[in-house]
Amino acid sequence: MSNSQIPPPKNSPQLFILHPDMDFKRYLITAALPYANGSVHIGHLAGCYLPADIYARYQRAQKRDVKFVCGSDEHGVPITIRAMKEGITPQDVVDKYHTIIKDCFEQMGISVDIFSRTSNEVHKETAQAFFLKLYNDGLFEERETEQYYDEEKNTFLADRYIVGTCPICSNDNAYGDQCEKCGSSLSPEQLINPRSTLSSAPLIKKKTKHWYFPLNKYEDWLKEWIVEGKKDKWKPNVYGQCKSWIDSGLQPRAMTRDSNWGVPVPIPDAEGKVLYVWFDAPIGYISATKELTNQWSDYWCKEDTKLVQFIGKDNIVFHCIIFPSMLKAHGGFVLPENVPANEFLNIEGQKVSTSRNWAVWVEEYVKDFPDQQDVLRYVLCANAPESKDNDFTWKDFQDRTNSELVSIFGNFVNRTFVLMHKLCGGRVPPLHQDLLDDADKAIIADIQQSKKDIETCLETYKFREGLYNVIDLARKGNKYMQDKQPWIVAKSLADTPDNQKLIDNCLHLCLQLTANLAILANPFLPFTAKKMCHMMKVVDKMLDWENAGTIDLLKVNYPLRAPELLFRKIEDAEVTAQVEKLNTNLAKATENMNEQPSKENTGNDTKIPEYKPEIVFDDFAKIDLRVGTIVTAEKVEKADKLLKLELDMGNGVQRTVVSGIALHFKPEEIVGKQVTVVANLAPRKMRGIESNGMILMAQNADGKLIFVSPLETADAGGEVK
Ligand code: 2FM
Ligand code: ZN
Repeated sequence: MSNSQIPPPKNSPQLFILHPDMDFKRYLITAALPYANGSVHIGHLAGCYLPADIYARYQRAQKRDVKFVCGSDEHGVPITIRAMKEGITPQDVVDKYHTIIKDCFEQMGISVDIFSRTSNEVHKETAQAFFLKLYNDGLFEERETEQYYDEEKNTFLADRYIVGTCPICSNDNAYGDQCEKCGSSLSPEQLINPRSTLSSAPLIKKKTKHWYFPLNKYEDWLKEWIVEGKKDKWKPNVYGQCKSWIDSGLQPRAMTRDSNWGVPVPIPDAEGKVLYVWFDAPIGYISATKELTNQWSDYWCKEDTKLVQFIGKDNIVFHCIIFPSMLKAHGGFVLPENVPANEFLNIEGQKVSTSRNWAVWVEEYVKDFPDQQDVLRYVLCANAPESKDNDFTWKDFQDRTNSELVSIFGNFVNRTFVLMHKLCGGRVPPLHQDLLDDADKAIIADIQQSKKDIETCLETYKFREGLYNVIDLARKGNKYMQDKQPWIVAKSLADTPDNQKLIDNCLHLCLQLTANLAILANPFLPFTAKKMCHMMKVVDKMLDWENAGTIDLLKVNYPLRAPELLFRKIEDAEVTAQVEKLNTNLAKATENMNEQPSKENTGNDTKIPEYKPEIVFDDFAKIDLRVGTIVTAEKVEKADKLLKLELDMGNGVQRTVVSGIALHFKPEEIVGKQVTVVANLAPRKMRGIESNGMILMAQNADGKLIFVSPLETADAGGEVK
C-alpha cells in the first residue's frame, strides 16, 4: 500500500472549541466503572478505556494536574446473575473479576491513578452519605408499587430475573428490561407470559416501597445546561441522545431496589433494600478519588476542575442526565465538562456478544501477541467508533499494522537510525543553517504544524484524527528522506565538499523528527515512545508536550543506540488463527447454550429424562411445524459447523435455513431429504446469512444427529401436527 492510500478519518465530530482549557487548574478524568462480572474485551477498550487513557496521558504530558480514576462496579443484577451461573457467591464473582480487569488494564497501559471497587467501605460510606443528604433534604418521593415476587425463592425479582415473550418480536426469552433479540427496552409488565428465572413458581405481585428521584423536576435545568449549553461542545452522538431523552419528558426513577447485594439503604424501615446500582456506581468515581487522595474535594468541589467522563454509548443517559441531576440536587459538586462517549465496536461484522463468546478478549490478545500492546492500541484508535459503530476485523488489524505502523512509522525511525550510524558515526550530526533548503524548511514547518494539529485533536476528543496526524508526520519524514537520498549523496563525498554537510542536515532533521514523533505518539503508543527514548538515550522527561514542535531535542554529537525494530509484521497465519478462534469460540458457546443439563448418575443404567417446564396447549399451538425438502446444501464459509440449506416449502416457495449440522452430514448426503421445519421462527442472521426457520433433529446419546422426517414422502409445505 502506498503512503497516499491511508484514508483520513471520516465522520469526526465537529467541535468548535480550540483551547477551552485555559481556566482549568485540575483535570479529573473518569472511565466508566466496568461491571465485575466478566473480563475485558477490545470493545471495552475502544469504547471508553483507550480514549480516556490517551486523554489522561496527553494532559499529564502537558504537566497539568491530572487524576484518572476508575474501578470495578461490583453491585447490581449482572453480578448476581453471574454468581448464579457459576454457582458461587457474588463476593467471589467480584473478587475474581476485579483482579482480572485490573490486570488487563495494566497490561494494555491504561494508566489509571487508581482502580478502586464499589464493594469497599469508603464507597459504602460515600454512597450512603450521598443518599442520606438527598433524603434529609426531602428530595426523594416515596412510592409503594406492586412488583413481581417469586414465592418459592421468597424474593422480589429484578427485571433481569424475569423472562417472557417480547411483545415486539415474539422472542420467548426476552428479559424484563430488554429483548436481546430485537434490542427493545422493555419493562416486565410488557412481557407476555412473564416467568421467574429462579424457579418454576408462578409469579405473583407484591407491594414494596421505594425511593424515587424526581428527574422531572430537573427537566428545565437540564434543558438549559445540556440542550442550550452543550450544543457545540459535546459530541453529536452524545448531545443527540440527551436531547431526545429530555424532549420526550423525564419521569421520577426508583433509586432503591429489593435485593441483598448492594449498598444498604441507610434509613430505618428499609431492610432488604439496597441502593440502585446506577445510583451507587457513579458515586464510585467520588469514592475512588477519596481513596486516591486526601485532596479529593479539590477535584470534586472546586469550579476550576475540568471533569471529563469517558463512557460507552449505553451509559450516556446515566452520565449525562441522571448523575448530573443527582450532583445538582446534592449541591457542592462540579458537573462534567464533557462526556465523550464512543459508539460500539463490532467484530468481523457482528455485534460483540459475551454470551455467544463473540469477542476478542484482552487476556487472550496479550498471550497471543506478546509485547504488541501498542499495535492493538493503534488499530483500536485508528478505527475507533467515535461517531458511529465500527467494525474490527483481523484483516484490517494486519493491514494497518503492516502498512502503517511497520511500513511508515517503524520504517522511518529504523532508516534514520541505520543511516545515522552508517553515515554520521552513530552520533547526532550538526545542522548547517547556511545549507538549509526549501525541503528542510518544509519538514521543520511540518513538525511544528503537526504538534498544533495533534494538540487540537486531543483537546477536542478527536483521537482518530490525532493519531492519523502522527502517522502522517512519519509519512512526511519518509518522503523527505526518500527525496534527499543521503545514501546516494554519500557515494560522491570526495567530489563535493558540502556533501557531508547535506547528509548531516538530512539526518539531523530526521532524528529531531523522530524525537518529535516519540512525544506526539506517546499518548497513543506509550510502549513505543518508551522504546524510542531508550534508543535515543533520553529520559522520559523529553516526552513533555512542550518539547514537541522544536528541532533541538537531541544535542549535536550525542551518541545514540543501535535501532531496535519498533513493530513487526503480522503474518497471514496469525490472522487466520484468530478468525478461527472466534468461530470456534462461537460454536462452543452455541453448543453449550443448546446442551441439555447433565443428568445425575443414579448408580444404575436407567436414566430419568429431565423435561423442560410444562407448557399449555396454546404454547404448543404457536409453533408452526411444516415439512420441507432440502433442495441444495452447502458449507458456510469460515463456519465449521454451519450448512446453508435451501428448502422447498411447497407451492413454489423456497426458503433459506442455516443449520448447525455440518459436522454430522456432508452437504451432498442430505439433498432430497425431507425435514421438519419450525416455519414461524423469526429470521436470524448467521455469518451474514439470514436464516428463516429451523430444522428439527433428534440426538442420540453419543451426540449423533438424526433427521426428524416423515416416514413416507409427504407434500412439501404440509403441516406437522
Ligand atoms: O455499563 C457498565 O459497565 C457499568 N458498570 C458502568 C458504570 S459507570 C459508573 F456509573 F460507574
Ligand atoms: Zn424482541
